Amino acid sequence: MPSSERSSRRAGAALVTGATSGIGAAFARRLAADGWRLVLVARDAERLAVVAAELRERHGTPVDVLPADLSTEAGTGQVEDRLRSADEPVDLLVNNAGISLNRPFLRSSADDEARLLRLNVLAVLRLTHAALPGMTERRRGAVINVSSVAGFGAVMPGSTYSASKAWVTNSSESVGQSVRPFGVRVMALCPGYTRTEFHDRAGINMSKTPRWLWLRADDVVAEGLRDLHKGKLVSVPDWKYKLAVFGLRHTPRGVLHGVARDTRGRIGRDAG
Ligand SMILES: NC(=O)c1ccc[n+]([C@@H]2O[C@H](COP(=O)([O-])OP(=O)(O)OC[C@H]3O[C@@H](n4cnc5c(N)ncnc54)[C@H](OP(=O)(O)O)[C@@H]3O)[C@@H](O)[C@H]2O)c1
Repeated sequence: MPSSERSSRRAGAALVTGATSGIGAAFARRLAADGWRLVLVARDAERLAVVAAELRERHGTPVDVLPADLSTEAGTGQVEDRLRSADEPVDLLVNNAGISLNRPFLRSSADDEARLLRLNVLAVLRLTHAALPGMTERRRGAVINVSSVAGFGAVMPGSTYSASKAWVTNSSESVGQSVRPFGVRVMALCPGYTRTEFHDRAGINMSKTPRWLWLRADDVVAEGLRDLHKGKLVSVPDWKYKLAVFGLRHTPRGVLHGVARDTRGRIGRDAG
């Protein structure tokens, strides 16, 4: 038996949402290299097929694809069904798919705001809820919910993205404590600025963001998996963002709001 097959049997199956780009694709690469069998979720079926074929060829690990739009009832339902399957249990769920909107609250539509909430919050809630009963019964498994440093403060005036990520971090920390006695982990992974397609997709101009602030998706994933292994409930990769989170947690709100007006406030007006 090839060694990749042996290790894939040992590692179990992982389901990654938003697996075709950025942090999700980095999770898929790393987990395939570690011998996990994979189920990859995103909307673009052709791109999913290309990513899956590359991973199968490079790592010899089984990779299934599940095209689904997680901002819809039907798409989320399909992935829930896969997570509840007792025949093919999923031992690691990575809720990674997420979006931001460029327009500030007053200029965005209620439909767009609701779509952001359905993907960033409701899908995370529903998929976690579908995965945990099987994991607690089997007394093993983990859920990584990709959140953001932005969730630690309302630092982008008019953006509800931070609020959606505050929910992801807080609920992961809370649910994570409740499933610990069953040998199951839930962890929020909170990256800072990471080079992916995320900002381009939202139409956010990041050209003035200093280079030293950017993280590599592969590094975010490596530190996240190390922290999961250590049993952390919240993981903030990289020392500069650990420092930023300390600042966001301890700086008086009034001071934070002043800083926020000086930065994202301008982006908000430009975006209108
Ligand atoms: N990049 C950053 O600076 C940063 C910082 C902090 C946190 N994050 C978080 O990291 C996570 C991953 O973002 P990323 O930066 O890697 O973004 P990305 O490069 O834009 O990748 C997003 C992935 O999600 C999928 N996706 C988007 N909408 C979807 C939907 N409705 N249903 C299913 N899949 C969908 C995309 O594929 P399809 O388009 O084919 O669906 C793609 O695979 C997000 O939760 C984001 O909030 C990012």
